[in-house]
Amino acid sequence: MKSIYPLIIAAVAATSASAETPLYLNPDAPIEDRVEDALSRMTLEEKVALCHAQSKFSSAGVPRLGIPELWMSDGPHGVRPEINWNDWGHARWTNDSCTAFPALTALAATWNPALSAAYGKNVGEEARYREKDVLLGPGVNIYRTPLNGRNFEYMGEDPWLASVMVVPYVQELQKNGVAACVKHFALNNQERWRGNINVDVSDRALYEIYLPAFKAAVQQGGAWTVMGAYNKVWNQHCCHNQRLLEDILRGEWGFDGAVITDWGGAHDTREAALNGLDIEMGSFTNGLTSESEFTYDDYYLARPFLELIRKGEVPESTADDKARRILRLIFRTAMNTRKPFGSLHSPEHYAAAKAIGDESIVLLKNSGILPLDPAAGKRILVVGDNATRVLTNGGGSSELKVKDYISPLDGITAVFGADNVDYARGYAAGPPMYDRDEPVPASVQDSLRAEAVALAAGADVVIYVGGLNKNAFQDCEGQDRTGYGLPFGQDELIEALVKANPNIVIANISGNAYAMPWADRVPAILHSSYLGTMGGASIADVLAGRVNPSGKLPYSIPVRLEDCAAHSFGVDSYPGVESESGDVLFGVCAPQQRYEEDLLVGYRWHDTKKVPARYAFGHGLSYTAFAYGKPVLSAKEMTAEGDKLTVTVPVTNTGSREGAEVVQLYIGDDKASVLRPVKELKGFEKVTLAPGETRDVTFTVTPEMLAFFDAGAHAWRTEPGTFTLYLGGSSAFTPAKAKFKLK
Ligand code: GLC
Repeated sequence: MKSIYPLIIAAVAATSASAETPLYLNPDAPIEDRVEDALSRMTLEEKVALCHAQSKFSSAGVPRLGIPELWMSDGPHGVRPEINWNDWGHARWTNDSCTAFPALTALAATWNPALSAAYGKNVGEEARYREKDVLLGPGVNIYRTPLNGRNFEYMGEDPWLASVMVVPYVQELQKNGVAACVKHFALNNQERWRGNINVDVSDRALYEIYLPAFKAAVQQGGAWTVMGAYNKVWNQHCCHNQRLLEDILRGEWGFDGAVITDWGGAHDTREAALNGLDIEMGSFTNGLTSESEFTYDDYYLARPFLELIRKGEVPESTADDKARRILRLIFRTAMNTRKPFGSLHSPEHYAAAKAIGDESIVLLKNSGILPLDPAAGKRILVVGDNATRVLTNGGGSSELKVKDYISPLDGITAVFGADNVDYARGYAAGPPMYDRDEPVPASVQDSLRAEAVALAAGADVVIYVGGLNKNAFQDCEGQDRTGYGLPFGQDELIEALVKANPNIVIANISGNAYAMPWADRVPAILHSSYLGTMGGASIADVLAGRVNPSGKLPYSIPVRLEDCAAHSFGVDSYPGVESESGDVLFGVCAPQQRYEEDLLVGYRWHDTKKVPARYAFGHGLSYTAFAYGKPVLSAKEMTAEGDKLTVTVPVTNTGSREGAEVVQLYIGDDKASVLRPVKELKGFEKVTLAPGETRDVTFTVTPEMLAFFDAGAHAWRTEPGTFTLYLGGSSAFTPAKAKFKLK
């Protein structure tokens, strides 16, 4: 074997034994100085090596300089179990069970930014303890269709709610020395054909609906990384999209962090080199849809990138720019010497998960049957697969391996007493590998239904815990739902249970809206998203009245799918149409899609088209009641230059127990030269009131809140005229109104 001994001797001799620490290793030096110093010491090969995966969830550092590699992990709701070095399998470690926090749709449903801060802090401590430098979340794609398989990972249909709720999560997460990775930038609003669908949307809808939450996460949250989406916009993949990454993200928003692809989101070396991508993860360069033995050096931003630079086809400065941003990320995370040590599945994390879950549950309807008094000793029959199914498994990359899991049945049994609680599965949900929502033979469903209905007749109260789950074609990454209705014959089961016992509470779990044909025939409906480790305890405490529900819907629940904006314009609007020719990915040819509803997403559509939702955006009841008094304005008019006015509304708890109300402010431009929604959310505040207490809630109205995006001028603009302020407890319940004039 050729001896390398002489080489080592020569290298060691050449290394100055000087005692002083190189600048880039000095933790007290400004990060930008450290970046430049480190960069100046790196070879071209070392710069390029930073720009792509070295394993499924890590990218290289610079071993020669002692610059550590970057370790990334899913997901938005907790730290994913360790994945193998070079395939998607679980590494089957025994030290990586975690806290499963509620889904981000649940966080959005709390309308409580303080809980978003708690969320970021606690999930960040888990990521830090698991020695992850980048947590691949939060996701803030707007909820455009209830069929999107990943809505449960995002923060609802409204840009103002998502913008306010994402910022504290990012800020507190990053205080752990763990980078947020805001995803999926941008216009990844469905899973169908996500790999290469080209989304066409107006600039107004882009700037007014789809970008704001990303902008807030970057500018107010200070996000250190952003994940490019799989899809295309303007016929260019988001992961190396000149307009999205260079013009908007960096040019307009001043983003100084790193752009990371979604896993397999890179498709072109030249575009990746020139259009602002920094780290390429997970792609299959040979177009295979399965793992192959090719090395990570074949990635677009690996050897092919190096060769383009060597041939002079792209400037070396592209490698310097990427390396600079990646080094900055490394100094903020892996080489951050001030970061805390973190902790894993601690009592504090469980308490945070419980608090978020408690405030996320939305009481849609209550005839008075709720709360159920545990002391009454009523005989309760719990029915439904979701009462026992571990819903943290599956769903795609947001899957979690929990150390503990309190199921709804566990929670209900603990609160109401095992002697008073019986269980019947009612329906079978089938194993995840099935690819349709009727994976179970009808005979099995019939017998499960018959058993539940028979038991229901003998109970005092039936609590039905069904809904959706994380199986394919439900609340799951990679595909969309195939229909708006509940799967596994649940509607038929619910109708049969109602006939057998009208004292029934629907306490379903889902990350999406779904059809509720039985809504008028049941006395109460509780709507929960996936609440993770403490979910069953939260649901049981709300059912028993130990927690007074205060959640509000972060998305509309249409009566029928056709009432939803995205499904009112034919297939080019959803799911899009395949093209005759063009790039083929996973067997689909260049699908095209046009968001025909433009900016009328969610309640904007329901209000403007006068198509009422079954339950409106912002709706949520309490075990107490709230009344709104007359709003008072600080002025009757304001100018567009730096002026502002305040609106104050008195809110009273008219019930007999303490409760929290989310006071919502919507603003409508009474007459505009362009199409504008009837009203748009421009403020909210969650207030806790004692019985009989009245609190004045004040909002400040600024000209920016009145503006619309003028695509022609590429600028935000306001038009003089009258505006209406709508205040209340839901987008469909705004009893307090006031007008003012913008001069
Ligand atoms: C997945 C998801 C993304 C996730 C990544 C790594 O395809 O789209 O959200 O973070 O790949 O698992």
